[in-house]
Amino acid sequence: MQPEIRTEPVIMKAKACIRKEYGAIFLSLAVCVFIFVLRHMSDLEFQPKVKSTIIMPRVSSHHIVNRSFCTFQPLSPQDALEERLILDSIAWPETPLLPSPISLEQTTDPAHSTFTILPGRKGGQWHVGDQLEVMIQTFDFQGRPKKSGGDFITARLHNRKLEAGVAGQVVDHLNGSYSAVFSLLWEGDAQVEVTLVHPGEALSVLNRLNREQPDRIYFKSVFRSGSVSETTICNVCLRPTKQPLCNYTDLRTGEPWFCYKPKKLSCDTRINHVMGGTKPNIKANEEKLFQSGVNLKVSIRASGPACFVLPQKGQPKVKSSTVTSGPSGYYYKGVWQAVGGLTIHKFNASAITHCLKGKAVHMYGDSTVRQWFEFLNAALPGLKEFDLHSPKQAGPYISLDFANNILVTSRFHGPPIRIVVVSTSELRYIANEIDGLIGGPNTVVVFGIWAHFGTFPMEIYIRRLQSIRRAVVRLLDRAPGTLVVIRTGNPKDLNLFVSLTNSDWHSLQCNKVLRAMFKGLNVHLIDAWEMTLAHHRPHNLHPPPPIIKNMINHLLSYICPQKGG
Ligand SMILES: *[C@@H]1O[C@H](CO)[C@@H](O)[C@H](O)[C@H]1NC(C)=O
Ligand SMILES: *[C@@H]1O[C@H](CO)[C@@H](O)[C@H](O)[C@H]1NC(C)=O
Ligand SMILES: *[C@@H]1O[C@H](CO)[C@@H](O)[C@H](O)[C@H]1NC(C)=O
Ligand SMILES: *[C@@H]1O[C@H](CO)[C@@H](O)[C@H](O)[C@H]1NC(C)=O
Repeated sequence: MQPEIRTEPVIMKAKACIRKEYGAIFLSLAVCVFIFVLRHMSDLEFQPKVKSTIIMPRVSSHHIVNRSFCTFQPLSPQDALEERLILDSIAWPETPLLPSPISLEQTTDPAHSTFTILPGRKGGQWHVGDQLEVMIQTFDFQGRPKKSGGDFITARLHNRKLEAGVAGQVVDHLNGSYSAVFSLLWEGDAQVEVTLVHPGEALSVLNRLNREQPDRIYFKSVFRSGSVSETTICNVCLRPTKQPLCNYTDLRTGEPWFCYKPKKLSCDTRINHVMGGTKPNIKANEEKLFQSGVNLKVSIRASGPACFVLPQKGQPKVKSSTVTSGPSGYYYKGVWQAVGGLTIHKFNASAITHCLKGKAVHMYGDSTVRQWFEFLNAALPGLKEFDLHSPKQAGPYISLDFANNILVTSRFHGPPIRIVVVSTSELRYIANEIDGLIGGPNTVVVFGIWAHFGTFPMEIYIRRLQSIRRAVVRLLDRAPGTLVVIRTGNPKDLNLFVSLTNSDWHSLQCNKVLRAMFKGLNVHLIDAWEMTLAHHRPHNLHPPPPIIKNMINHLLSYICPQKGG
């Protein structure tokens, strides 16, 4: 059942709010910049199209001016053009360089910064269906207003008792102030939360690290022949040294991968892959820019009331001119509802089995996709995992329900993967796996790939998605009935280390790239970003069961849409 609230407008009135809630909040800028439209999927021709009037970052060109040692030729001129357009579309506003040695004085201080709810058009009255706008003013640690933009800020509107929540859209005015815009989607109290995830100064550091030190997480492989074995360092790209390289670039997809050549053994004696470790990478004092409780995922307080009540009915009128697109969904009574189009149903175990009867579901990606496999395994009494003796974490996994002819598989994406030792024979790129599927109306392909790319220049991620998209296009051409569902990245618990290797900022940028690249294709997205941001549970790389359950309902609603619902 849809809650009534979307058809029955009521008025919201600003009211002082005493309650103060903690818990991180987040928002999606993700909606901001998807400017690309795939016109013809088959020849991957692009027609850039400005979709919204959102004020967004000026185009930055440093990714062109100063590439890292980590560069590769795109596969085609179209790919190269697309890459350039995408990089421009996600360019983040530059933050003025900090003097050295680094001090926080001139950087954004969430404790000094504030937000204010702007009055509705009729002086503090809103209806369900309206948009609520919040103005955020940032200040530095000396209490002076910031004059430039570039901070990464998220926002959420929520009601803990109703288990309702929605992500806001944040717009950077590039002058130290930001707007957060919320769609008012339920009847009842609503509280605004605004969070500084990273000050812009920290993003400059992350940007530099991904260009200059894409190898700050490194990988290893063992090479073995007879009784001789050697271990060398591997990565998507390796610093040029006198040591020769082994080039494991995948011939079909073009995915790059290299190891330093072992001294005594040949390149084809490589037997496995594992994460090697991390290298120290930031300059003195730069860690100050990533302090939990100081400037890393810290709430910004309201300068006035942060809460509302909604007592009366009326017609929605207030639409923000700041943003033109809305959230992808919201929670109400703990249940995720999509905005626009799809109705999400609840599936109990028997409904899931009924839905998946006769189907094969193939999941590819990182551990956040494996969570879905694990959820189905645990939820369905008839679905039994067949023990392939795979290493924990790595997989592959396979589950079968013989009675209902259900097959569910899960497999990690190809390198880079930061996990336990994996045999080279199990390193498979998603694109190649998809090429191995016949597809059809009883085949569901799910993938999610984002969490292992946080140390690389965005070009690496773009190339990976280009190869996956080519495979998806081929799959949909040979078997148009195949359902393809993509899981986006989600915000997570951040500390210094995670910020430097897998920050939410990088995930957000990956999500923008993902959306832009699959726009217009017959594929479906599950917006794990907003589903995590809008939820009251603390962020975690692996979202907790209530969120996974909602994601599975979302997935099943694509697989088994219900008529009349
Ligand atoms: C490019 O990078 C090099 C080495 O990291 C640095 O010396 C140089 O100043 C950079 N140039 C620009 C334009 O950023
Ligand atoms: C910053 O820009 C926004 C949008 O143009 C404007 O509303 C606001 O007043 C500006 N703030 C300052 C301090 O100039
Ligand atoms: C690695 O191999 C690929 C595919 O054969 C080739 O295109 C690429 O130039 C090689 N890279 C290096 C650095 O040798
Ligand atoms: C599962 O849901 C279906 C409706 O989708 C309902 O008919 C059935 O009774 C439910 N089963 C259980 C065990 O709750």
